Amino acid sequence: MQQFISVNDVSNINSLVKKSLVYKSNPLMDQQLGRGKRIGLLFLNPSLRTRLSTQVAAANLGMEAVVFNVDKEGWALEFEEGAIMSGNTVEHIKDAAPVLGKYFDILAIRTFPALKNKIDDYSEMYINQFIKYAGVPVVSLESATLHPLQSLTDIITIQEEMNKAPESFNGRRPKVVLTWAPHVKPLPQCVANSFAQWITAWEEVNFIIAHPKEYELSEQFTRGAKFTHDQNAALKDADFIYVKNWSTYNDYGKIYENDPAWMLTEEKLQQTNHAKVMHCLPVRRNVELSDEILDSPFSLVTQQAGNRVWAAQAVLSEILQSIK
Ligand code: CP
Repeated sequence: MQQFISVNDVSNINSLVKKSLVYKSNPLMDQQLGRGKRIGLLFLNPSLRTRLSTQVAAANLGMEAVVFNVDKEGWALEFEEGAIMSGNTVEHIKDAAPVLGKYFDILAIRTFPALKNKIDDYSEMYINQFIKYAGVPVVSLESATLHPLQSLTDIITIQEEMNKAPESFNGRRPKVVLTWAPHVKPLPQCVANSFAQWITAWEEVNFIIAHPKEYELSEQFTRGAKFTHDQNAALKDADFIYVKNWSTYNDYGKIYENDPAWMLTEEKLQQTNHAKVMHCLPVRRNVELSDEILDSPFSLVTQQAGNRVWAAQAVLSEILQSIK
């Protein structure tokens, strides 16, 4: 693997999932693989899980991880080609990225969208400029449109649950629902885009997206998915429910309604097939998801967040093998 930006960088999803689960049962089995190698984790935005799980994954592979909170500690970077840098930006990515490429064997980057201009965000200029100028493999820690380490984790978690109770899925594909949830502020579409992209590429489940009118996602990432505006219809007989808010895509970056009726409740779970509930975290309790669900045995959120380590470890392992 030369980079990890989207599902398109993965030749076989099932192999990567399997590798992740092997690491989960034997975390230190490849401790020599990353010996003498260094990864730079660059954050232009906050993180808890992505930062720490990737550091743990790197340590498990014997690599050194250096975290750099670019937004707080670094020079203000310019990303536009040909920019006249007479404003607030101090250093061009053309100059900074090659330097980082000299310090690190792998660069991993988190760059959220600004949610001001769809064309700008969906061009993925920030991460693409790192890829263009770094000269070393780049891993997305969540970009403007996608969150691939989260999506790999989500599939690992679904597969793990399927492995635990194979009789429940004997001869049938699990039903997976991605449902929009209320939130108090506009959030990126990354997690929803990425989950849709990975789950449709995986081809192991029946997948439907439920959202209020006006919350359509980009066709670029959701091709092959079914859609409904009827959350209850989607939840019927569901095996897995992925709860996530996202802001509008068409009239970009807005929240029109914060309808509490879309919050998943225990009552709504009754119509499912004892569905397990997923969320990438952080979660706004009793806005996106109720306490009663998050604190119930149906919630997979802690297991899911724990699996972030094994997803990152499998991806770093694949990249290390390609640069040995
Ligand atoms: N799910 C996720 O990416 O969490 P963090 O934002 O805390 O890294």
